[in-house]
Amino acid sequence: MSSLAQKRILLGITGGIAAYKSIELIRLLTKADAEVQVVLTEGAKAFVTEMTLQAISGNPVRSTLLDPNAEAGMGHIELAKWADLIVIAPASADFMARYAQGMANDLLSTLCLATESPVLIAPAMNQAMWRHPATQANAKLLAERGVLNIGPADGAQACGDIGPGRMSEPNDIFNAVIAHFQGSLIEQDLTGQHWVITAGPTMESIDPVRYISNHSSGKMGYALASAAIARGARVTLVSGPVQLTPPTGANIIAVKSADEMLAACEQSMSTQADVFIGAAAVADFKMKAASDQKMKKQSDTDEMTLTLVKNPDIIATLVLQKRAKTIVGFAAETQNVIEYAKSKLERKGLDIIIANDVSRADIGFNQDENQVTVITKDKIWSPDKAAKSNLANQLVEFIQQHIKSAP
Ligand code: C5P
Repeated sequence: MSSLAQKRILLGITGGIAAYKSIELIRLLTKADAEVQVVLTEGAKAFVTEMTLQAISGNPVRSTLLDPNAEAGMGHIELAKWADLIVIAPASADFMARYAQGMANDLLSTLCLATESPVLIAPAMNQAMWRHPATQANAKLLAERGVLNIGPADGAQACGDIGPGRMSEPNDIFNAVIAHFQGSLIEQDLTGQHWVITAGPTMESIDPVRYISNHSSGKMGYALASAAIARGARVTLVSGPVQLTPPTGANIIAVKSADEMLAACEQSMSTQADVFIGAAAVADFKMKAASDQKMKKQSDTDEMTLTLVKNPDIIATLVLQKRAKTIVGFAAETQNVIEYAKSKLERKGLDIIIANDVSRADIGFNQDENQVTVITKDKIWSPDKAAKSNLANQLVEFIQQHIKSAP
């Protein structure tokens, strides 16, 4: 039996250019044997036709609340009861506002108010509209009321802007529907939050072909990004050079040097972020002056001296600039792990520090598992050794609880 056999899904489409992607979503749902009924708002009609949606879903499409013919078939309350799940993709800013206010001024908003089934929204709008405090407040309110959420993703927008507001890809929405019915769709309690995470090593040029770097794989930072995205956060991942596939939905900014990493962090937090996590292994030093040309071997000497200068301390700079409400650092140590981490917490003015012993071959750098100790001003917590993805979920949960319990 297919994964969505006998599942009844009501797909609401609201007005936005992403509406064309909903056709693909219907195809995925019906291919998995779900029964799909489509409801359009007035605005959606400007982007997709009822004829197309009817052909793809195999069911008549509805758009008006007070349609005697449609009501004679299946009344709107009946339709609200029919659905096992209501999916609204795309969910426009206007629709989210009306839904958050409990309005019932068209068929789709009425169905959302009348249904006792879960509702999953996939917001899609211009990046400024998404970031507007009104939309953010609506998204938060809906999430608090248990409305499930996927996206929006970051990236290029139809209007030419770049930023958060792209509807999640049909395949990702489809997977969220499957996860919902499997009971594995995670609570979207980070909806409306912006998390900025650094990951991987930095690469400091010596000359055009050589550099100073370290063994960081970026796995921990990438796992944290995935964990925060899964709970609904908008995530900017500022990544040094790594061999990893970026998590779906993250806004990736690829950098090389510490200077570039700092600039990317500052730029992505021009508006204060909710959480900053410095998981990158930033090189402490860079060349005082990297050479423009490949440096030549000197045959008359066995020694070579490079003059290095300190790199900016990215996390400490961001703390001073108050770029995020909560700032979390990592402390990779080879000895006196807890003691050194505690002093780093204080010296850098961090809210939380996550310490790990990189002298152990089985954990930390370049490994899939990690064991850490989490330290705040008044708490020390040591979760069991675990896969980085599992640990990332626990760390995101810890950070969220820390935010909630803050005065
Ligand atoms: O001082 P140390 O490198 O041990 O501190 C580790 C923490 O500080 C990590 O969160 C790391 O990302 C951050 N860091 C930084 N800029 C540096 C050095 C470290 O942001 N130049």
